[in-house]
Amino acid sequence: MDEHLSRAASAIREAEHVAVMTGAGVSAESRIPTFRDTMEGLWKEFDPQTLATPEAFAGDPETVSRWYDWRRLKCLEAEPNPGHLALAELERMIVARGGRFTLLTQNVDRLHQKAGSRNVVELHGTIMVWRCTECGREFEPAPEAFDAFPVPSECHEGALLRPCVVWFGEMLPEQAVSVAHEASSTCDVFISIGTSSVVYPAAGFIESASMRGASTGEVNPAETPMSTRVDWRLEGPSGAMLPRLVKAIAST
Ligand code: OAD
Repeated sequence: MDEHLSRAASAIREAEHVAVMTGAGVSAESRIPTFRDTMEGLWKEFDPQTLATPEAFAGDPETVSRWYDWRRLKCLEAEPNPGHLALAELERMIVARGGRFTLLTQNVDRLHQKAGSRNVVELHGTIMVWRCTECGREFEPAPEAFDAFPVPSECHEGALLRPCVVWFGEMLPEQAVSVAHEASSTCDVFISIGTSSVVYPAAGFIESASMRGASTGEVNPAETPMSTRVDWRLEGPSGAMLPRLVKAIAST
């Protein structure tokens, strides 16, 4: 582990541009369940993969809206953990020395922004913003539960609001994908943190950085399909590993 930590620290120290991809694991220590974890309470019997689709919303907009509203409130209550804070600190360090830092995230919870990260690219959108299914107008709902389900649009009578997240089968936001392509084709270091690396296209960005010869690393307590392909691996929760990494970078 220490050898991997020092390999990671020296690659990041020498890098001009560092790109990071985060997934649900980064928010696990903020008590937001990872996407593939068993759902809690009321939602125990549901499979998240069958709720996160346009077909599910069309077939049962009330259940899907209630599920997203429940998750939105959990995200609003949550606080960034030491992993989020370490990534914000890493960005400050790199920017202060004239470098670039790009944080690509699959998370919809906005905890990176709450922790102080600035250059955040939301590949799967955000649960904090909802839009009218008729005209696309976006709203940031008040920090309390919706009082009607499914959620009626305020701008078009008879239309519904839906969360601005990317559902299975939908395209990722064009601008976010283009920033991710640019980052993976110019970065010196690419780090994959708290993601199962199974959902494409997000999982493909580290592969293309690796093929170009960038230094690649992974932070995750479990193995993923990328584990044997990265140059270094910090095996453990990101809330413990990332502060250690930032400390190691700062200490030499
Ligand atoms: P997953 O739930 O698939 O994977 C979470 C990953 O986090 C796993 O690899 C865990 O081992 C790891 N993990 C758990 N606890 C951790 C901790 N404390 N520190 C670091 N890692 C930890 O979530 P994602 O990979 O983010 O997409 O899933 C990607 C996408 O799949 C989601 O954005 C969602 C889902 O389908 C859409 O909705 C389109």
